[in-house]
Amino acid sequence: MTTSRCVCPGSFDPVTLGHVDVIRRASGLFDEVIVAVLTNPAKRPMFDLDTRLEMLTESLADVPGVSVVAVKGGLLVDFCREVGASSVVKGLRSGTDFAYELPMALMNRHLSGLETVFLPGEPRYEHVSSSLIKEVSSHGGDVSGLVPDGVLARLLERVRPVRHTEAEETL
Ligand code: PNS
Repeated sequence: MTTSRCVCPGSFDPVTLGHVDVIRRASGLFDEVIVAVLTNPAKRPMFDLDTRLEMLTESLADVPGVSVVAVKGGLLVDFCREVGASSVVKGLRSGTDFAYELPMALMNRHLSGLETVFLPGEPRYEHVSSSLIKEVSSHGGDVSGLVPDGVLARLLERVRPVRHTEAEETL
């Protein structure tokens, strides 16, 4: 019997409950899911690679058949070939996600025939992205229920006291 294997790639800066939902559902479709943590040169990460790996490993501890690995350069298609993954799995929240993901999916298929499976995002996490999570939490907003507990704790460590008004500052 052959083992079906997929890769869920991303920056995961940080992992959200939307990501966890997609990875959990991928583990129902494939025998093995490799969560590949990459550094996107277009983004400056808030969390270093080791912390992103740690947060993912903690958050996915109860999901069967999942491993979390760092990919420190090179093309995603080459990584997938090396680990014997037939497909990439990505979650799609909206048309904006589709516009971002489609060219990458087509390029990966062009480069090596690697297919991308899109899973519809869970509606209750439609508004949840790593960048909004960082923005809201850095201004003192409550992101509980949108990220795993370990991520929430790490975000709270970084929150600076909220400055409400200029007048308050001069008091
Ligand atoms: O979470 P992100 O930042 O949207 O993930 C994008 C990522 C890291 C999956 C993408 O940039 C990627 O696959 N990078 C690896 C290099 C590569 O293969 N680039 C060509 C993609 S068609």
